[in-house]
Amino acid sequence: MLVGNDVVDLRDSESQPEALHSRFDARVFTAAEREALGVSAAPHVLRWTLWAAKESAYKIAKKLDPTVRFLWREFSTHPMGEGWLVVVHGPHSFDVRVSRTDEWVHSVATHSSARHCSSTHGSARHGSARQDWAPLRSAGSSVGAGVERLTRSDADPSSAVRKFARAAVGSRVECPPSQIRIAAERGIPVAFWRERRLSVDLSLSHHGRFVAWAYGDCVIPDDRRGFAAA
Ligand SMILES: CC(C)(COP(=O)(O)OP(=O)(O)OC[C@H]1O[C@@H](n2cnc3c(N)ncnc32)[C@H](O)[C@@H]1OP(=O)(O)O)[C@@H](O)C(=O)NCCC(=O)NCCS
Repeated sequence: MLVGNDVVDLRDSESQPEALHSRFDARVFTAAEREALGVSAAPHVLRWTLWAAKESAYKIAKKLDPTVRFLWREFSTHPMGEGWLVVVHGPHSFDVRVSRTDEWVHSVATHSSARHCSSTHGSARHGSARQDWAPLRSAGSSVGAGVERLTRSDADPSSAVRKFARAAVGSRVECPPSQIRIAAERGIPVAFWRERRLSVDLSLSHHGRFVAWAYGDCVIPDDRRGFAAA
């Protein structure tokens, strides 16, 4: 399963309506999306929810086809119920789960029918949240995702998000984060365990005070099973 994720800091100065180009909405959103924004009681939150959905879908679309460009209006969003959207791009559709607090919006796109599964959500704590799509896991596949607030010691968001992603993937394959390495292929993050490429799709995001990560199906290497974590 392919995943893409995006986090938006709703209080970051660059997210504020007055910071946006006057034609931002016209450039980014379809007519239907602009109509929804026009009648929304919370256009700020909806704007960044739709944006995050598009960007998380784009991150998968780019994996499927490296020539894809992020032409925003070509990624159309379609609400599917509370917290779920479908993003359509050309022949592809992406299921997108959106989580929100007062401070951030986080979207996780997958390239399968994840909307058929209800999700269990970790409780938000100190601006952070972890999610585990339990029904997908029990069906033999899983999506893990999380949002974390940067701390004063996190000087570099890229390093910080990799620290959290290594811990999450390490936990999934039951080995210490120190044994997980995250590299990049064409800018797209890929995970290794002891120099072996792991069969897990990964997505990273950072904006303002927050970082977020998501991973898709993770096949635990055969020689990893039963390994006592050092
Ligand atoms: C992928 C992209 C949207 C990320 O934008 P961003 O504002 O940096 O957003 P995020 O913080 O959410 O994501 C950054 C992370 O996404 C990952 N990433 C980078 N390029 C990626 C890609 N092509 N696909 C999937 N993930 C990607 C990286 O892990 C990156 O983290 P890092 O900088 O720490 O390595 C941006 O880099 C991009 O490619 N834009 C589209 C350019 C384009 O098509 N322009 C033409 C239309 S105008």
